[in-house]
Amino acid sequence: MNDTVRSRPAVLILLGPPGAGKGTQARMLEEGYGLIQLSTGDLLRAAVAAGTPAGLAAKSVMEAGGLVSDEIVLSILKDRMAEPDVAAGVILDGFPRTDAQAAALDALLAEAGQSIGAAISLEVEDEAMIARVAGRYTCAACGEGYHDEFKQPAQAGVCDKCGSLSFKRRADDTAETARQRLKAYHAQTAPLIAHYDRQGVLHRVDAMADIDTVRSSLGRVVTGLSA
Ligand code: AP5
Repeated sequence: MNDTVRSRPAVLILLGPPGAGKGTQARMLEEGYGLIQLSTGDLLRAAVAAGTPAGLAAKSVMEAGGLVSDEIVLSILKDRMAEPDVAAGVILDGFPRTDAQAAALDALLAEAGQSIGAAISLEVEDEAMIARVAGRYTCAACGEGYHDEFKQPAQAGVCDKCGSLSFKRRADDTAETARQRLKAYHAQTAPLIAHYDRQGVLHRVDAMADIDTVRSSLGRVVTGLSA
C-alpha cells in the first residue's frame, strides 16, 4: 500500500478488542501513509522490560489481563506524544481504553490545536479473538507480527521483513488471559465507540475478513478523510 495521501488526518484511533488486528493494521497504515504507530501496549511492555517504576506497577496487571491505571498510561502516552516524530500524525493503537483516557486525549488535542481524523472500530466476534491471540507471535528483532495459522512467514522460521530467525510470544497471550482482556474491553473500552459516534468521527470496519481485505477497508477510510 504505497498510495500516499496528500493531506493526512492528524490522529487516527483504532478501537477493537484483543486480536482485532489493531497492531497488524496500524503497522500497515504506518508504512502506507507515513503515520506513526503509537501503541500503549508496546510502550507498557517496553517499560516492563526496562524495569521502570511504571513498568513494575503495570506488569502484574497486564499479566492478569486487566487495564493499567489511567495515571500510568497517560503519563507514558504524553511523554511519547511530546517526541518530534509524531508531528507526521499518529495511529493510536490500544488508546484510549477508558472514559478518562478519552477525555484526556480530547483535552490534549484541543491544547495542541489538533483533532481526531477518525476513530475506526474493528468489529469482530469474541470467540475468534481467542484463537487469534493464542496463535500470535512476533519477530524478536523488528516486531513484525505473525500467526500460527493466519499469517506465517514466507520461509518457515525466517522473518519476512528483516530476516531474523528469532521470534517471541507475549506473556499475556494465553486463552485464559485473553478472556479477561475481552471482559475488560467490553466493560471499559467498547462504550467509547458511542463517544466517537457522538463526535461524528466513527467508522466501523468488518475485521473478521482476512488481513488484506481489512487493510483495503481501512485504506478507503483514510483516503476518504484526505480527499
Ligand atoms: P495491547 O498490547 O494493546 O493488547 P490488546 O489490545 O489486547 O490487543 P492485541 O495486541 O492483543 O491485539 P491486536 O488488536 O493488536 O491484534 P494483532 O494485530 O496483534 O495491550 C496489552 C495490555 O496492556 C492490556 O491488556 C492492558 O493491560 C495494557 N494496556 C495497553 N494499553 C492500555 C491502555 N490504554 N489503558 C490501560 N491498559 C492498557 O492480531 C492478533 C493476531 O491475529 C496476530 O497474530 C495477527 O497476525 C492475526 N490477525 C490480525 N488480523 C487478522 C485477520 N483479519 N484475520 C486473521 N488473523 C488476523
